[in-house]
Amino acid sequence: MLFCLHRGSRLRGPLEESGSFVVDFLTHRQEQVAWRFAGRESAHLSEVPHHRTPNGLPVLTEALVFLECRVADEYDGGDHTIVLGEVIGLGTSAEEVDPLVFYRGGMRVLGAAGPEPVDV
Ligand SMILES: Cc1cc2nc3c(=O)[nH]c(=O)nc-3n(C[C@H](O)[C@H](O)[C@H](O)COP(=O)(O)O)c2cc1C
Repeated sequence: MLFCLHRGSRLRGPLEESGSFVVDFLTHRQEQVAWRFAGRESAHLSEVPHHRTPNGLPVLTEALVFLECRVADEYDGGDHTIVLGEVIGLGTSAEEVDPLVFYRGGMRVLGAAGPEPVDV
């Protein structure tokens, strides 16, 4: 699993300290949570329901899926750092619920009918 962290991020310190991170896949009910963490003045963990993995990493309790990762390597990505993580744990929700997807500038839910064919 990889993600790109902008070089000035205040998450740089915590990431280096713990050497690990969690990826939460949100449900369509969590659009507000997604926007609050995506902003400049992003939300604090204490404002949302969360719990800790046995390794002490925080997981958003209402997430659909979480992946717990240990930093395996980092690569230069210009104004971002490309952080590569080895997945060391995961969990899924017992409930079947649609994921939240970011596409074309907005939060969306996958359509039940699937993608429409296009002429190529
Ligand atoms: C749609 C969207 C995608 C984003 N993708 C990234 C990303 O890939 N990497 C990143 O570091 N920040 C990304 N951001 C910005 C962060 O969500 C957040 O605003 C920023 O990290 C806040 O600064 P901080 O990292 O110092 O807390 C994205 C924001 C939005 C709205």
